[in-house]
Amino acid sequence: MDPISAATHVDPYPYYAQLRADSGLTFHPELKLWVASSAQAVCAVLAHADCRVRPAQEPVPKAIAGGMAGEVFGQLMRMNDGARQRCPRSAIEPELAVLDPDVVNALVAARLITADAHGVNQAMFAGPVCVVAALLGFTPAQARVINELTADFVACLTPLSNDLQLAAAAAAAEQLRGEFIELLAEPASDLLSAIRQRFAGDEETLIANLIGLCSQTFEACAGLIGNTLLALRRQPALRGESVEALLSEVQRFDPPVQNTRRFVAASCEIAGVRVEAGDVILVLLASANRDPALNERPEQFLVNRENRRSFSFGSGRHQCPGQALAMSIAGATVREILGHEIDLNRLNWHYRPSLNGRIPVFSDMGA
Ligand code: HEM
Repeated sequence: MDPISAATHVDPYPYYAQLRADSGLTFHPELKLWVASSAQAVCAVLAHADCRVRPAQEPVPKAIAGGMAGEVFGQLMRMNDGARQRCPRSAIEPELAVLDPDVVNALVAARLITADAHGVNQAMFAGPVCVVAALLGFTPAQARVINELTADFVACLTPLSNDLQLAAAAAAAEQLRGEFIELLAEPASDLLSAIRQRFAGDEETLIANLIGLCSQTFEACAGLIGNTLLALRRQPALRGESVEALLSEVQRFDPPVQNTRRFVAASCEIAGVRVEAGDVILVLLASANRDPALNERPEQFLVNRENRRSFSFGSGRHQCPGQALAMSIAGATVREILGHEIDLNRLNWHYRPSLNGRIPVFSDMGA
């Protein structure tokens, strides 16, 4: 196991504990990057002004530069620092924070779920993006298209994609842009109207960041829902707990986004360690959550944990603006799945190949 393959290992947590015991911030010679594993180091890296979300010399990955996927990528708040992050964020963050959980519940409940692995996967992957698309004003039929395009688009966010997947991501970006241009011509939701009213930038930046809301939702929500189902499968007694309380501990204990990265823009000292301009830091969010300096008895799964602290939604300037929405969507979805009497023990599962996501995919036994 190494700090990247750990994300999809069946139990990476003893390994993370070892990394923390060695040093909170240490250089990994094979991976040629720094690894931040302690809560203190993770917090310091994410707060540091010289730790950026993209390398200065490659704001857009070479593999997608020049195409529409690259155009969108280059404008995302997630992939920028400075004004290109703050401007879209200041329009979107306050509006996401005040969304009504009852509206989210109703949107999730309106979707059909079949009582098999396919139904569970659909609820995990397609459901959340359909909810976000509906909140932005798309009709249910359009929302399904947006979800399919998003599933193609997210391929441009990972270096694991092949040329065919990258071509599909570029085509999806083009189509998503078209769908959002039409939607913005006649905004059909309070959320979109409010975001637009607050937004001070150009239309292309707005469109890219609306696509970004869908792409950020896609895998992370699926992972949180899936990891909650796995927790229930391991500990059936948890079924008696409130779904909200259960999700709050799952997101800390077994987070869907295990790590993120930062790129050092100027030589500096972080958590007592000197790093140089051009260095890369792998930030182990999932390890920081298990640091005893952050949470008492961190290796125990405590649904009613007091003073729970977590890096699962990031920290600092890029902290997830969709956290409340994600928790509402995941909660409503888990409740729906459990309401369908699906026998979780009769499902096989494996983690989707990923460098940072811990996202189970289910299949029927014998399938
Ligand atoms: C369980 C679900 C989710 C998890 C675990 C999650 C986690 C994260 C994390 C860790 C980051 C920070 C990445 C970094 O600093 O490198 C982030 C950023 C972000 N998330 Fe989420 N997220 C989730 C759902 C959502 C949803 C539903 C939305 C929107 C509808 C969303 C929108 C965003 C955006 C726009 C950013 C970039 C913010 C910025 O760079 O300023 N996320 N998310």
